[in-house]
Amino acid sequence: MNFRYFLFAFILVISGCRQNAPEIKTVELKRGLTVDQAMVVSARVEASKIGSDILQRGGNAFDAMVATELALAVAYPYAGNLGGGGFMVYRLEDGTLGAIDYREKAPLAAHKDMYLNENGEIIPEKSTYGAMAVGVPGTVAGVFAVHERYGTLPIEDLLQPVIDLAKRGVVVTQKQEDRIEKYQQYFRKVNKDSILFEKPWLENDTIKYPSLASTLERIMKGGKDEFYKGETARRLVDFIQEQGGIISMEDLNRYEAKWRDPVTFEYDELKIISMSPPSSGGVCLGQIMTMIEPYDLHVYGHNSMEAIQVITEAERRAYADRSYYLGDPDFVDIPIQEIMDESYLEERMSSFSFEQATPSSEVKHGEIMVVESLETTHYSIVDQFGNAISATTTLNGAYGSKLYCSDLGFFLNNEMDDFSSKPGVPNMFGLIGAEANSIAPEKRMLSSMTPTIIEKNGELHMVVGTPGGSTIITSVLQTILNVHEYDMSMQEAVDAPRFHHQWLPDVIIFEPNQFSSELKDKLESKGYGIVDRDNVITAKVNAILLLENGLIEGGADHRGDDAAVGF
Ligand code: DON
Repeated sequence: MNFRYFLFAFILVISGCRQNAPEIKTVELKRGLTVDQAMVVSARVEASKIGSDILQRGGNAFDAMVATELALAVAYPYAGNLGGGGFMVYRLEDGTLGAIDYREKAPLAAHKDMYLNENGEIIPEKSTYGAMAVGVPGTVAGVFAVHERYGTLPIEDLLQPVIDLAKRGVVVTQKQEDRIEKYQQYFRKVNKDSILFEKPWLENDTIKYPSLASTLERIMKGGKDEFYKGETARRLVDFIQEQGGIISMEDLNRYEAKWRDPVTFEYDELKIISMSPPSSGGVCLGQIMTMIEPYDLHVYGHNSMEAIQVITEAERRAYADRSYYLGDPDFVDIPIQEIMDESYLEERMSSFSFEQATPSSEVKHGEIMVVESLETTHYSIVDQFGNAISATTTLNGAYGSKLYCSDLGFFLNNEMDDFSSKPGVPNMFGLIGAEANSIAPEKRMLSSMTPTIIEKNGELHMVVGTPGGSTIITSVLQTILNVHEYDMSMQEAVDAPRFHHQWLPDVIIFEPNQFSSELKDKLESKGYGIVDRDNVITAKVNAILLLENGLIEGGADHRGDDAAVGF
């Protein structure tokens, strides 16, 4: 192990060694895969490898993005998709920043009360299972827009390896076997006909995807229009409508991915670049980081009581604002500058005390002066030219709406549940929404996805993101802090135990069996609600760190089958 990978720490030697001077102790950092030039970190090794091979053949990060995104639709049908959507933030080698929104949108026939019965109550499962839960998919539009603007290799070079993978098939991992088994009861409930995933797939079996391969072949030939206007579009609309859904040809015809300006803010010497609305990720992360910046987190210590208190209280306040102010910027005015303003956020934290938790019932959204004017997946890529992309893509729930179009070979999202179906009533992540995130035709539902890129002293420093619904923002936050405040390697930062607070419900959710009872008892005595049970934190962070010695380190989350591949 290279000496550059050692962290030097001073410790005072006390007990029984009075004659000893302070001793220098070396602590070895546990690094993830470290390479010289370029890397892709994603939820499956097959997808990371396809992306990395594209880079090795001279493609750039955007070429690799197109291939990785579509390879995840094959290798990771749990969340990778053609039937969903996502967000991507990028930083070009010359420092230019940008973002693309390929989020799903509500169909033209959608309306505000579409998930309520005649008494105004939520109809259970209507926004989460089956055809009525599906938003108009954005992924194919997203990758073609990226390729058109920044791609350098022909689309055939990017799609052919993905098509080959679909034909060759993907080997089932133990974690995938468990997931398929767990969700089979829902596949049966939602789908009229038996689907590919209802077979008893076991670890080491190979699942082949011939229908998906044919769909991808048509898309390779016909481009974006094949999915939104062509034969694939017609077959998709027929299928959704047969299943009782409302998505029409016009919905698909009108779908466009949108280029957006990312949200940027500073924290110490870092510049954080993250996703803007209709994701709440960047704004919420910015609010939290600005609220915690004045506190000495590194002095309190990693996952210490004080650090947990400060972070929790900032999260509580940011999520309260999220639920009130945020929605699709093409439909609602979002006072971004005001709610990210330093003095506004300082004022928000003025009610915080280390003595006692602030109950969420006492925290509403902040008052500002308005001036007129359970599944997702993340991949991070740095190329050999210095470009970086951070992309999070989703079907929303695990296998989305569970509705699988056997004809075309993919699952459809249940992203409509990310809207606020009824003000004040939580969605599947327990998130509460208001008017800003109510349903309207062609509106994009509010997201928590937080694809993020970080500069340090003006240079590319880190690429980070994760799935995890409402826990996405707080997991990205902790990963950044683990590197910046606590000197962890990228892999350690990803692996470290995490916790989460989202205003309502008013509890800190801890990753199970990772935090001491003593710590939790102490927090409870200060008025914090505690939740510590299996599978609550579903975030699987995939990140890349540029080291001072010029090497690139990947952090692939051990909580999944995630893998870094590079050269
Ligand atoms: O956009 C969002 O915030 C959600 N649809 C993300 C869902 C998710 O991360 C589920 N994964 N565990």
